[in-house]
Amino acid sequence: MISKVSKKVYIETYGCQMNVADSEVVASILTDSGFKITDKINEAELILINTCSIRENAEQRVWGRLDSISHLKKRKAGVVVGVIGCMAERLKEKLLETDKLVDIVVGPDAYRELPSLITEAESGHKGVNVLLSREETYADISPVRMDLNGVTAFISIMRGCNNMCSYCVVPYVRGAERSLNYESIIHEAVDLFNSGYREVTLIGQNVDSYTLESDGKKIDFPMLLEMVAKINPKLRVRFSTSHPKDISDELLETMARHENICKHVHLPAQSGSSRILKLMNREYTREWYMDRISAIRKIIPDCAVSTDMITGFCTETDEDHKESLTLMEWAGFDFSYMFKYSERPGTKAARKYKDDVSDEVKSLRLNDIIALQSGLSAKSKKADIGKVYEVLVEGISKRSPDQLYGRNSQNKVVVFPKGDTKQGDYVNIRIEKSTSATLIGQKI
Ligand code: 5AD
Ligand code: SF4
Repeated sequence: MISKVSKKVYIETYGCQMNVADSEVVASILTDSGFKITDKINEAELILINTCSIRENAEQRVWGRLDSISHLKKRKAGVVVGVIGCMAERLKEKLLETDKLVDIVVGPDAYRELPSLITEAESGHKGVNVLLSREETYADISPVRMDLNGVTAFISIMRGCNNMCSYCVVPYVRGAERSLNYESIIHEAVDLFNSGYREVTLIGQNVDSYTLESDGKKIDFPMLLEMVAKINPKLRVRFSTSHPKDISDELLETMARHENICKHVHLPAQSGSSRILKLMNREYTREWYMDRISAIRKIIPDCAVSTDMITGFCTETDEDHKESLTLMEWAGFDFSYMFKYSERPGTKAARKYKDDVSDEVKSLRLNDIIALQSGLSAKSKKADIGKVYEVLVEGISKRSPDQLYGRNSQNKVVVFPKGDTKQGDYVNIRIEKSTSATLIGQKI
């Protein structure tokens, strides 16, 4: 048996920001019990794959990855492979049975059990815990930061989800919504600032419904956001994801009041058709969504807005699809994540509706919205030419060692000549041109 003291663990993360944050919690739990984190899979005696179930192809990628690492296990005796995260609950039998590769399967609420499950696996028993919890928030665990830029970090402010979007597997794989204690969130943000970080993103499935009772006082999301913003004007604050049914004027006014709360809202519309939104159980209409965008434009005129869109949801017609296009055009999104509908087992849509839009039509519609968005993104970047933005420098550009990159408040990536600027600095950049993904400028 390999001694835990010298054991190296490699953690690979799929899926959303929540999973990135969870991997950091896992890293903390494991380093506390004597493991060392490595970024080299070949050196690791423990390989953990933190998985995503959101769409069929997210799961396919993980199966493909498990295939491709099977040789490591054959080559080196004693290597333990674990599948953790969102696929664990749904697929534990398949993961353990169909493949001798996987030794442990651990769901998102059972990470504290990892050290003991690893010990079990080392003694030849499969280690499994996929129980979901109503209480677990890992609030007392200080995540080990694995994003090595040392400038930007995620802070998870809630876990799970209580919205029942009919297409979505998240409530089943991550359980019910729980908000973290605001004191531990503030503490985490202060610690990050003191160790040189200059931006935190507060993350949760639906940050607008953050709520916590403390000493008879109710803390809601605008209050929490304001508390984090007040830590230091040099600490930028972002948040994601907002839900159109819950995003309030009060939140927008809080954003407007504080310069260091970044002027960007990610507000997934999913569809522009009220009929489809009803089937999706999103609890808002096209008109309501438009009203929320108008409120953003009015209260925070320089705010960027991004969205998520799904094409080909059950019964979606050409007419519904056109409504998605016209909504996107009207809103003028700066950025969108766009997906084909993928039926997820166990969800309301899988149980009650027929996945009746052909894959071909889903793809055609996806192409339509991608083409539209690329025009909107280009237009939004062109409009930035000539403007001056404060940019927080995150690192050296991948394209050239003489260029740095960072983001402006609106979450757009800005590239500029290095000069004497360093990571973590704020610099004012005049935008001179744009490419499809970035703004390019000069320091002023
Ligand atoms: N099929 C396609 N896209 C989905 N999303 C969530 N569930 C599905 C699904 N079953 C998308 C939504 C969500 C984003 C994280 O993933 O747009 O906002
Ligand atoms: Fe994140 Fe949802 Fe994927 Fe889980 S299933 S990793 S919550 S996107």
